Amino acid sequence: MTASNSLIGKDINQADTPALWVDLDAFEANARKMLALCNAQNVRWRPHVKASKSPDLAQRLTDIGAQGITCAKVAEAEAMVAGGISDILVANEIVGETKIRRLAQVATRARVAVACDNIHNIEEISAIASEAGVTIDILVDINVGANRCGVTPEKAPALAQMVQELPSVHLRGLMGYEGHVMGMQPEDKEAASVKAAEVLSEAQSLVQAAGLRVDILSGGGSGNYWHAATLGSINELQAGGGALMDVSYQELMRLPDHQYALYLNAQVISTAVEGRVILDAGWKTTGRHTGLPSISSHPGTEVVSLNAEHTIVSVPEDLQVEHGDRITLIPHYSDSTVLLHREMYAVRHGIIEDIWEITGAGALR
Ligand SMILES: Cc1ncc(COP(=O)(O)O)c(C=O)c1O
Repeated sequence: MTASNSLIGKDINQADTPALWVDLDAFEANARKMLALCNAQNVRWRPHVKASKSPDLAQRLTDIGAQGITCAKVAEAEAMVAGGISDILVANEIVGETKIRRLAQVATRARVAVACDNIHNIEEISAIASEAGVTIDILVDINVGANRCGVTPEKAPALAQMVQELPSVHLRGLMGYEGHVMGMQPEDKEAASVKAAEVLSEAQSLVQAAGLRVDILSGGGSGNYWHAATLGSINELQAGGGALMDVSYQELMRLPDHQYALYLNAQVISTAVEGRVILDAGWKTTGRHTGLPSISSHPGTEVVSLNAEHTIVSVPEDLQVEHGDRITLIPHYSDSTVLLHREMYAVRHGIIEDIWEITGAGALR
């Protein structure tokens, strides 16, 4: 039993700081909300776990009802399969022999699909999968407006045909991730989601007109899932981060009625400067990709700035915050916070119920 394991059943405030933790009630409520919408629309929920990078958390999502998971990197897929996850979509282009060989290894232990937008990439995946004796499912990646990866609808049939003809790759369908929509103003989001959906549907029509099957139509993120899942254009939803929720999902992406579920406890290590306290967690602990964390435990206090190992917090005159006090932060963007940690405490009503290893932390290849 590790020192961490001995904390199971204890109050989260007994965990040494900085301590990353998940409020299970809020996490489960968020996940069930996303799942319920999917169920009502006959859409399968395949949440993206790029933020959590933890097979333990992914397993909770599948226990709740997710049908498989989505990730961005082969290394994340490796972490997931090692943690017992058996149905994985790598919603990203995986290029080069080294990575494709690893992907084929993952496919010996799980059903694996990968996004492709290039003929040579499909040929290489087919050749390596054949050699490894596995089948890899392919989703042809469609550019639905994000201008990141993905082909135009007109180019989709040729790629799909290529998958159909080659051995050891199986044409599973199409994906179109509308990343450009996520941070839009609420009044623009629906129209932009509709536009993206139309591009994916156009690609579907063209591929089907070429006589090819499209079983999976995959897309949608936490920033627009309530539109994406209800437009009839997808039958698998990739949105996942909304289950953990953070300040950027709340303030920039305006997720409707989600609760914060990811928290970070830090400790006051200095009160020497009047009007402020200093915490033992800087940007190496909180991340700082999109903005500053919020404080949930001490109304009136505010994060002023982040140094590498310190957070500077302003404290109003009428509030007493003592040396050694614990302060609970809400990370600004879970994606840039969780990967800095090795474990998350799974907490219910303040008590540590489980400890989830973040085995995908640093898993960038
Ligand atoms: C391909 C892909 N799908 C889905 C998502 C949405 O992820 P989330 O719902 O965790 O924000 C992203 C986010 O970057 C993505 O890149």
